[in-house]
Amino acid sequence: MPLRRLALPLFLALAIAGCLPISAPPPQGLQPPTPALAAAAGPGSSGLNDPLFPLLGNGGYDVQHYALDLDVHVPSNTITATATIVATATQNLSAFNLDFSGLTVTEITVNDLAAVHTRSDPEMTVVPALPLMEGSLFTTTVSYHGTPRPLRDPAIGFAALGWNHAGNLIYVVSEPSGAMTWYPNNNHPSDKATYTMRVTVDKPYTVAANGELVKIEEQDGRRATYTWTMDAPMASYLATLVIGDLVRVDNERSGQVRIRNYFPTEDANRLAIQFSVTAEMIDYYSAILGDYPFETYGVAVLPFHLGYALETQTLSIFGNDGGMEGVIAHELMHQWLGNHVTPATWQDIWLNEGFATYFQRLWLDHKLGRGFLDTGMVSYYKLLKAGHAGPPGAVGAHDMFSSTVYERGAWTLHALRLQVGDEAFFRIIREYYRRHAGGNVSTAGFIAVANEVSGQDLTEFLNNWIYGPELPPIPEETITDTEGN
Ligand code: ARG
Ligand code: ZN
Repeated sequence: MPLRRLALPLFLALAIAGCLPISAPPPQGLQPPTPALAAAAGPGSSGLNDPLFPLLGNGGYDVQHYALDLDVHVPSNTITATATIVATATQNLSAFNLDFSGLTVTEITVNDLAAVHTRSDPEMTVVPALPLMEGSLFTTTVSYHGTPRPLRDPAIGFAALGWNHAGNLIYVVSEPSGAMTWYPNNNHPSDKATYTMRVTVDKPYTVAANGELVKIEEQDGRRATYTWTMDAPMASYLATLVIGDLVRVDNERSGQVRIRNYFPTEDANRLAIQFSVTAEMIDYYSAILGDYPFETYGVAVLPFHLGYALETQTLSIFGNDGGMEGVIAHELMHQWLGNHVTPATWQDIWLNEGFATYFQRLWLDHKLGRGFLDTGMVSYYKLLKAGHAGPPGAVGAHDMFSSTVYERGAWTLHALRLQVGDEAFFRIIREYYRRHAGGNVSTAGFIAVANEVSGQDLTEFLNNWIYGPELPPIPEETITDTEGN
């Protein structure tokens, strides 16, 4: 929703807020305006012009930290919550937007002063009592309650996005837009932030979330508060919460990485065996890509079929149908590429899915021998050809999770590997990960690293794979090697 422009000059905004007498500033030229007066504050934009989802995210600020305090009643699926959002203003702001869908807001403060808000779901506009100066850190609190409802994005037919309730279970699967169903946020992958989640539930429910479980506090014998922290930057679509009858099962560590999983109590033994491969996979990907980016990893398995899995940061979510080894490897690999290195826009989604798909096959190939990958990739090539798979870098919302993105994306990497040889290929991937760790990257950023590290101009070659309407021919193989690392 486009914001109504309310570009008040700063002096007027301050006057309305009661900080200055209402009077015009001295006529220009007579007296140099103070920097504060010169910089008129305007509203932040209501979207970031993402090519697929133009209204996701908001302009004018950069969130540093979300502290989410949620009191959850599981059987009735009701919450009472406060979100505390610490952000830096990236322009002088008279107002800014948060993305927030449903739920009832009772109070908003900015820097401890009551703020006015208006809603046009999923946009919420906050007008702070005092304008915010560019570069300043400001704290917004939003108090809210109600029953969170998942989003049905018509473009993404297969999933209810965001906060889901199923009997005695609550789980959050947001990619791409569902984060706004349970907390107000800057809902775009380009604004990553750290998190603290304090979640209070009735006993004996267990709360699993991203990062580290810092403490469990007993409330009154009946209730318990779980505090989870995610100390590395995280995109809002990767924030998750799973509340239910879950048991925690720890695996053997991989180096410094702790592994903790949450399984449905009745299925825990079977799942513990299925996911016991995780430590070995972390070792494998760490050797190829660089160190695992976070302190912990693990999965949360839901007690029903989900039909897909999601790489929620440090705690991937699976249905109880989802323990195939390739998928386990896929969601783990996303922790490096997808989560720690995150696409700049949703149109760069192939950087997530092409890599995770190709690297899940590298894991299987590592276990089964290189023949697996080569044979597999040739069959996928035939399928892509027969299906006239379009360019993975030019998808719309409706095909962001299509085989064009996953399989032609994976083939783009395989083709690059055939073109430059194993040694240069794995140097490119390592440098791409190292350079963009903790941040965001565009497709152009990937191509730049490939050119630089290989010492070749691969722009046209990669552009054909990523943006060309036709599937390019398979490059003649430069080097056949087994592992390349
Ligand atoms: N990123 C997921 C994967 O690794 C796909 C998620 C699709 N589902 C969804 N609700 N967005 O394959
Ligand atoms: Zn994926």
